[in-house]
Amino acid sequence: MAKTALIVGASRGLGLGLVQEYAARGWDVIGTVRTPGTLLHKVPGIDVETLDINEPEQIAALRGRLKDRTLDLLFVNAGVMMSNRAETIGAVATDEFTRVMTSNALGPMRTLEALAPLVSAQGVMAVMTSMLGSVAGNTGGGTEVYRASKAALNSLLKSFAARQKKSQTFLAVHPGWVKTEIGGPNAPLDIGTSVRGMADMIARRTGQPGVAFVNYDGTEIPW
Ligand SMILES: NC(=O)c1ccc[n+]([C@@H]2O[C@H](COP(=O)([O-])OP(=O)(O)OC[C@H]3O[C@@H](n4cnc5c(N)ncnc54)[C@H](OP(=O)(O)O)[C@@H]3O)[C@@H](O)[C@H]2O)c1
Repeated sequence: MAKTALIVGASRGLGLGLVQEYAARGWDVIGTVRTPGTLLHKVPGIDVETLDINEPEQIAALRGRLKDRTLDLLFVNAGVMMSNRAETIGAVATDEFTRVMTSNALGPMRTLEALAPLVSAQGVMAVMTSMLGSVAGNTGGGTEVYRASKAALNSLLKSFAARQKKSQTFLAVHPGWVKTEIGGPNAPLDIGTSVRGMADMIARRTGQPGVAFVNYDGTEIPW
């Protein structure tokens, strides 16, 4: 029987790429978007669902609609960049801090926690973090609030994993530096290379319980 993946935040960029990669591998794929008429709507054979991860009632509604599905992979990819990447913690407006933290840490983990009961006992739950979220690796600073939001996401994933089934796999995934709206045109990787790497890495880690912070190529990143 085909495996099932739910990719949250799949209207464009890496989320859309993940949907296309898993569909090409023969999986049943559900992808979520916030708005009608996205690139995901043009991909044949995909179940398209609506979800804004910052709206708890939308998360609950999606959980209800999917109540009879079993997920082999739940991957929360949705995330945002700072409006001004150079802004320091002393300069950032409270609204902007709240937007980035909510969209990159609270929203993804609320979504993961609500949908986790749909994931199989040997299943994989992943969030799209960034190597910029590595506290150990932060020697240069920069993009301060984005870094903090991904560090918070990593920390919350670890706390969540500690209270879940010991047979499941929990991954904080760095996709590489990829040409998307967030990655920008100077990024060295294309979406195809990143999503193939992530899907291969997830396949290798499936059935290996525990929590890890991993690059798209499978190498581990220090927390
Ligand atoms: N590209 C890189 O080099 C890179 C590196 C490290 C980490 N990442 C991470 O990779 C993930 C995907 O980013 P990307 O590079 O593919 O950028 P992107 O093209 O800007 O895609 C961001 C995606 O997140 C969705 N999203 C944002 N806020 C959302 C919300 N509140 N609810 C639901 N969906 C939401 C967007 O949906 P809409 O179309 O509705 O806005 C879009 O599908 C992000 O978490 C990002 O931090 C990217």
